[in-house]
Amino acid sequence: MLKGRSLIEPGNFSLEELDTIFNLAEKIEEDETYLREGCRGKLLATLFFEPSTRTRLSFEAAMLRLGGSTLGFADPGSSSAVKGESLADTIRMAASYADAIVMRNPKEGAALLASRYSPVPVINAGDGGHHHPTQTLTDLLTIKRLRGKPGAKMLAESVKGLRVGFCGDLKFGRTVHSLSHALARYSGVKFFFISPDELRAPEYIIRALDREKIEYNETGNFDEAMPELDVLYMTRVQRERFFNEEDYIRLKDSYILDREKLEKAKQNLIILHPLPRVNEIAVEVDKDPRAAYFKQAKYGMYVRMSLLASILGVV
Ligand code: NCD
Repeated sequence: MLKGRSLIEPGNFSLEELDTIFNLAEKIEEDETYLREGCRGKLLATLFFEPSTRTRLSFEAAMLRLGGSTLGFADPGSSSAVKGESLADTIRMAASYADAIVMRNPKEGAALLASRYSPVPVINAGDGGHHHPTQTLTDLLTIKRLRGKPGAKMLAESVKGLRVGFCGDLKFGRTVHSLSHALARYSGVKFFFISPDELRAPEYIIRALDREKIEYNETGNFDEAMPELDVLYMTRVQRERFFNEEDYIRLKDSYILDREKLEKAKQNLIILHPLPRVNEIAVEVDKDPRAAYFKQAKYGMYVRMSLLASILGVV
């Protein structure tokens, strides 16, 4: 059902297809030897035109743990992009060597373009400030595992009634765009968007919530929102997307989550962050049992194993 499919934004997969991916990821987490040789003989191209630690390494780890292999670059400076090769040509080449392509690119829409030229599946590992669907798979699996009903087969059961706060750079943060878009497909989720005025969530996200009559609250007041939340999604101010450094410096420390701020939070809150963190979560918070961001990064590997096995058609 998922064999041969590209993933450019979370809406490309139906809710049933997403459940299949989460259930397989949980099976792999339970028994890490499951599918150990599943992708033997398969090749994954990882084309990273922008920096990455977790996304690239977790894709590589995922493919290697499935018995497959990877090839690619982590720095566009070492690819023919510097000689002026078009993305379409680079993709055609990668597709002729590999069975699937994972790509991160600074341009919004680059992954969609790549998928149009590629005869093999393309996975968007981030296109500028637009989408980052595999981070969303990671986030949703983490929510399911840490807040969901044990044994629930459908994510819908686990997110119903959740109050989810997004805090930080909601304008440029592609992880926020993808996750809010994905969560809006489930009923009963209430959103809190916490940001400085200049970094509010894009109009198209807010308008979509209005259209679907989904409850949300936009605020600059972190303390006021805190006691309401079941999930808090912290984000880094996206320096690389700013037009000038002064604005970045003025806004970068708008919200810092520390022990004191958490005093008003629910005891069963979960704190997520796609990472890398800069200043927005004080290191002292890492010891709090509610901090889930390092576990989240590990779920990212399981869910990418599940995704790769599914689109390569080995399950
Ligand atoms: C995020 C990204 O690249 O958008 N990182 C990641 O993939 N885990 C978040 C960020 O860079 O702030």
